[in-house]
Amino acid sequence: MNILLTGGLGNLGSRLLIPLVRRGDRVVIFDLQDKPFIPSDEFNQCKLIRGDLTDREAVIEAVKKEQIDSIFHLGAILSAQAENERDKAWTINMEGIRNTLEAARLGEVKRFIFSSTLATYGGGLPSPLDIDSPMWPVSLYGVTKVAGELLGVYYHNRFGLDFRAIRFPSVVAPRGMVGGAGRFTSEVFLEAIKTGSYEFYLRPDSSIPIVYIADAIKSFLLIHDAPEQNLTRRSYNIHARGVTPAELETVVKARMPHVKITYNPEPVQTAMVDSWPHSLDDRHAREDWGWQETYDLDRMADEVIETLKKELNSTDE
Ligand SMILES: NC(=O)c1ccc[n+]([C@@H]2O[C@H](COP(=O)([O-])OP(=O)(O)OC[C@H]3O[C@@H](n4cnc5c(N)ncnc54)[C@H](O)[C@@H]3O)[C@@H](O)[C@H]2O)c1
Repeated sequence: MNILLTGGLGNLGSRLLIPLVRRGDRVVIFDLQDKPFIPSDEFNQCKLIRGDLTDREAVIEAVKKEQIDSIFHLGAILSAQAENERDKAWTINMEGIRNTLEAARLGEVKRFIFSSTLATYGGGLPSPLDIDSPMWPVSLYGVTKVAGELLGVYYHNRFGLDFRAIRFPSVVAPRGMVGGAGRFTSEVFLEAIKTGSYEFYLRPDSSIPIVYIADAIKSFLLIHDAPEQNLTRRSYNIHARGVTPAELETVVKARMPHVKITYNPEPVQTAMVDSWPHSLDDRHAREDWGWQETYDLDRMADEVIETLKKELNSTDE
C-alpha cells in the first residue's frame, strides 16, 4: 500500500513510519524539513518529498504521482507554538488539512487519518468527558483542529472519503513533543537525566490525560486498518490515564532521588492545560477498533528512562 505521511519527520510521524515500513507499506513523507526527529533504518527506505502543505499543487502532485492509497495527516503547528505564531499556525493547520483533503479527493485516496487532539474541547467540562461534549476550544490550535475534523467529515459526507480522526491526549515519549503545552510529560524525564533538575511551567496539580508513544502509534495502525463497517463515528478519543506534575515528580524521584523539581506556573500554558479535559471517554475506540493501552505509568517511566539513558550514553561514547 502507498502511504503518504504529512509531517512524517516529526515526533509521531518519524515513529509511525517504522511499523508501516516493516509491514511492507511504501511510505512517502511530505514535510518541510529533511531530517527525521527519530532517525531509523526504516526512514532510509521512505521517499521524502520536501514541500509545504500550504502549497496545494505540491500536495496534489505528491498524492497523484505517488499513487497514494492512504494518507496520515500529521503536519501541523502545535499548541504552545500556535499561540506565539498565530498567523503561521492558522495558515499551516487550516490550509494544510484543506489542501490534503482536496488532494485526497482528486487522487481518489481510499483512507484519510487525521491526528487531532483533546484540545478540541474547551474548559470547565466534566470528567470523564463524554465524547460528544460541545467543542469550544480555548486555544487557537484547538480551533484549527475542530475545523479540520469538521472539514474531514464534510469530505466524507460530500465525496465519500473514508476520513477517520483520533483525538490524542498528550503523547509521552523518550524524546517527546516540542511545541505543545503538554510537552512537560516527556520533557521532565529528559531534563531529569540530562541536567538533574526540571522546572514545571504548571502548578503541581495541573492535570492532563496522557498516552505512551508506543500505544499512540499502535492506535494509528488500529484505526487505519479497522473495517469501515465497524466504525460508528468518524472522530475518536483515546486516552490511557490522567497525570499531574506532582505525580510525575513522584515517579521521577522514585527512580532518580537526586533530581531537583521546581514549579513556576506560566499563565498562558497553565490556562491552556487547565482548559483541557482531565479524562476522556474513549469507549468507542475500544469497542469499534480494539483500542487498549498497554503501558501504565510505571512501565512507561521505566521505558522512557531506560531509552534515554541508553541514547545519552551512546552519544557520550
Ligand atoms: N505530540 C502530541 O502529544 C500530540 C497530541 C495530540 C495531537 N498531536 C498531533 O499529531 C501530529 C504530529 O504531532 P508531533 O508531536 O509529531 O508534532 P511535530 O511538531 O513533531 O511534527 C510536525 C511535523 O509537521 C511538519 N510541518 C509543519 N508545518 C509543515 C508544513 N507547512 N508543510 C509540511 N510539513 C510541515 C514539521 O516539519 C514536523 O516534522 C500533529 O498534527 C499534532 O497536532 C500531537
